[in-house]
Amino acid sequence: MDGNGRWAKQKGLNRTEGHKEGVKVVRKITRWCAKNSISYLSLYAFSTENWLRPKIEVDFLMKLLEKYLKNEDKTYEENNIRFKAIGDIGCFSDKLKKMINSLEIKTANNSSLTQILALNYGSKDEIARAFLKISKEGIENNATKYDVISKLESNLDTAGIPDVDLLIRTGGEIRLSNFLLYQCAYAELYFSKTLFPDFNIIELEKIIKSYKQRYRRFGAI
Ligand code: FPP
Repeated sequence: MDGNGRWAKQKGLNRTEGHKEGVKVVRKITRWCAKNSISYLSLYAFSTENWLRPKIEVDFLMKLLEKYLKNEDKTYEENNIRFKAIGDIGCFSDKLKKMINSLEIKTANNSSLTQILALNYGSKDEIARAFLKISKEGIENNATKYDVISKLESNLDTAGIPDVDLLIRTGGEIRLSNFLLYQCAYAELYFSKTLFPDFNIIELEKIIKSYKQRYRRFGAI
């Protein structure tokens, strides 16, 4: 969800206004996905590297997240959406952790869309945490590489969630920035120049249409 800061700057506003506008787009896209048979929508809201931003912006993003989790209850219930967080949320405030956990529990049986928010998420961090869990459990001497793949996948934050089909990055950057690197092994990639606050359903529909026209071979011919 890249481009919030630039969107705000272009309008002579504080960067934080861009994040606020971004939340509105998150809401619209989430509702649209729930109503249009999309099973999973993963959103990169805060990366393990985002702590490098000025404290004032980090604090703002944490407060914005709190506000979002508090106010969006209705969106999840009315649209039958399951909420799931991925990332290492251990370092968040107790209040935020509680809000995240209770929304996960409250929406656990909702069955239209699963909305996944990546919070203090980074692929390298996720894989390292999975590795630590596996090394504590131990691995059988005669384990094959296929056993290792299955063990790794069941210890990632995304355990039980299918791999990414389509990855969209807004804001004009052409990189993955440590997002779901393992899960994007065969993802179709789409890079949009649109700054996230300007991203809309019309563009999303256009991207999905172009995705549907791609022939996915998964290494075969
Ligand atoms: C990247 O744009 C955006 C972020 C690091 C934060 C994304 C957060 C939101 C969309 C709002 C919070 C979301 C929820 C669900 C509470 P940038 O700031 O790097 O923009 P720039 O590249 O123009 O500087």
